[in-house]
Amino acid sequence: MKKLLIPFLLSAVVAMIAFGDKDSAKEIVITGNDAMQFDVKNFEVDAGSKVKLTLKNIGKVPKIAMGHNLVVLKKGISAIAFGQKALSAGANATNPLPDSVKGDVIAFTKLLGPDESDTITFTAPKESGAYEYVCTFPGHFAMMRGTMKVK
Ligand code: CO
Repeated sequence: MKKLLIPFLLSAVVAMIAFGDKDSAKEIVITGNDAMQFDVKNFEVDAGSKVKLTLKNIGKVPKIAMGHNLVVLKKGISAIAFGQKALSAGANATNPLPDSVKGDVIAFTKLLGPDESDTITFTAPKESGAYEYVCTFPGHFAMMRGTMKVK
């Protein structure tokens, strides 16, 4: 079964490239730096569409002191409130997203050190509106946040 799956996936990718399938994912690339800034603070996606999001840590400070992740939150969850909740749940410099708070999360990247990147794919919510995202490394949620607008 697994042997059959890989050629199937490859041909699906080729088809998407060849025909510009309208279901292909929208790509978003966001960087995080040593000044605790995401370079993209707003982006827009279509409701129910596929989103391919890449986070790159372009800083130099070691991961244990200046790691970054990107956590997309469910509707109505504020980045600030969620950052505080994650801290209360035990978020730390090696595990900034405790399992107990993942119920508020649509998608999340790994925690990244300098020159690391992570690409995640997820389906945008069907409900339009504003969805906040945040870095949950301790101390970052006040500055490292943004909004995914679903239309
Ligand atoms: Co951060």
